[in-house]
Amino acid sequence: MRTPLCDRLGIDAPIVQAPMAGGWTTPALVAAVSEAGGLGTLAGGRVPADELGRLIEETRRLTGKPFGINLLDPAPTAPGPEDPAVPPILQSIRQRLGLPANPQSGATDYPSTDEALEIALAAKVPVVSFAMGSPRPYVERAHAAGALVAGTATTVAEAEEVEACGADLVVAQGAEAGGHRSTFAEWRADELPLVGTMALVPAIVDAVKLPVLAAGGIMDGRGLVAALALGAAGVQFGTRFLLASESGAPPSYRAQLLAADETSTVMTDVFSGRPARGIRNAFARLFHASGTRPLPYPRQGAAASDIYRASLETDAEWAILFAGQGLRLATREQPAAEIVRELLEEMQEVLNRLPTR
Ligand SMILES: Cc1cc2nc3c(=O)[nH]c(=O)nc-3n(C[C@H](O)[C@H](O)[C@H](O)COP(=O)(O)O)c2cc1C
Repeated sequence: MRTPLCDRLGIDAPIVQAPMAGGWTTPALVAAVSEAGGLGTLAGGRVPADELGRLIEETRRLTGKPFGINLLDPAPTAPGPEDPAVPPILQSIRQRLGLPANPQSGATDYPSTDEALEIALAAKVPVVSFAMGSPRPYVERAHAAGALVAGTATTVAEAEEVEACGADLVVAQGAEAGGHRSTFAEWRADELPLVGTMALVPAIVDAVKLPVLAAGGIMDGRGLVAALALGAAGVQFGTRFLLASESGAPPSYRAQLLAADETSTVMTDVFSGRPARGIRNAFARLFHASGTRPLPYPRQGAAASDIYRASLETDAEWAILFAGQGLRLATREQPAAEIVRELLEEMQEVLNRLPTR
C-alpha cells in the first residue's frame, strides 16, 4: 500500500524504523529496513563527529535506497550557580555492582546540531529528522542541500510549528512511545503533555497539511492500519525494531524486552535528566523510592554512563532500557526485513477482515 509518505520519500511501504540513540540503530539495521522497502533511520544524537561520518558511510555501503538521520536539538541548559551535585546514590550503586568509585567523567565531545547537520548534508543523506526541538534553524540549509526535513511533535502546537517552519513531514509522538519525550515547547515539570497516540494523531492530521508519521506503542499490522485510519501517512516503529537481529541492543536488553509487558515501562527523568519512557528496572526503582532528583539533561546520563555500560554486560537492571508500551507484543527476535514483511502481511490481513459496506 502506497501513501503520500511513500511518494515523498521514494519508498515502497509506509514503515519507518525510528532513530534510537544509544548505538541501537546500526547501519545493518537501517540498511535492512530500507532494502525491505521502508525507511531506516540512523540515530545521530550524541554521536561523536567522526563516528557519525563512519555510520553514514557504512549505511551507504549497505544500501542504495533512501535512509534518514536523526538529530537531537534540545534547548541548552546552562549550568547555574546552584547546579546540583552528582547524587551520592550513584556511588552506592557502584559499590553494589563492584564498580570503581569516582570513574572518569562520561562526558564525550559531541558535535553541535549545526556540525552534525553539516556532516549529514555533505554526505547527501536524503532525510534529516529532528527531535527535542523545532527544525526551524535547519530547514533552509537542509532543503538547499536537497534533503527532506521531518520534525517531531507531541502536541498540535508543536506540529503547527513544524509545518510553519517549512519542514516536509511531522512525526506525531504519542505518550506510549519509548525513549525521550520530544516535547520542545516549554513545559512545567508537573504538566508535561502526555497525549496518547490515538488522540494525538487525528488531532495533528486535522491541524496540518504535512504527511504525519504516527509513533508510540505501535507494534504490528493492526496498529499500522489503525494509524492509517486515523489519517497518518505512515508509522515510525521503535521498540519493534529493537528486537531486530541487526539492532545493536545487547542480549541483556533483548531479554528485558522479551520479559516485559504493557505494565513494565514508566515515564521518568531519572535515566537522563529528561522525561523518557523506559523499563522500570532496579535503577528507576531505587531513584523513585529514595526521592533522589537526577542531574539536569544531559548530565545525568554522563554521570551514570559507567553504571549503564557495566549493567548492560549483565542483567541490565541498572541500565537505560528505553521502550514503548506495546511491549507485550514484542515476542521474538527476527531479521528486520522479516519484520517489515510481517507488518505488511498483517496489514493486508486486517484490511481483508474489515467489514465491507
Ligand atoms: C531505545 C530508544 C531510543 C530512542 N531514541 C530516539 C532518538 O534518538 N531520536 C528520536 O527522534 N526518537 C528516539 N526514540 C523515540 C522514537 O523515535 C519513537 O518515537 C518511539 O520509539 C515510538 O514508540 P515505540 O517505541 O513504542 O514504537 C527512541 C526510542 C527508543 C525505544
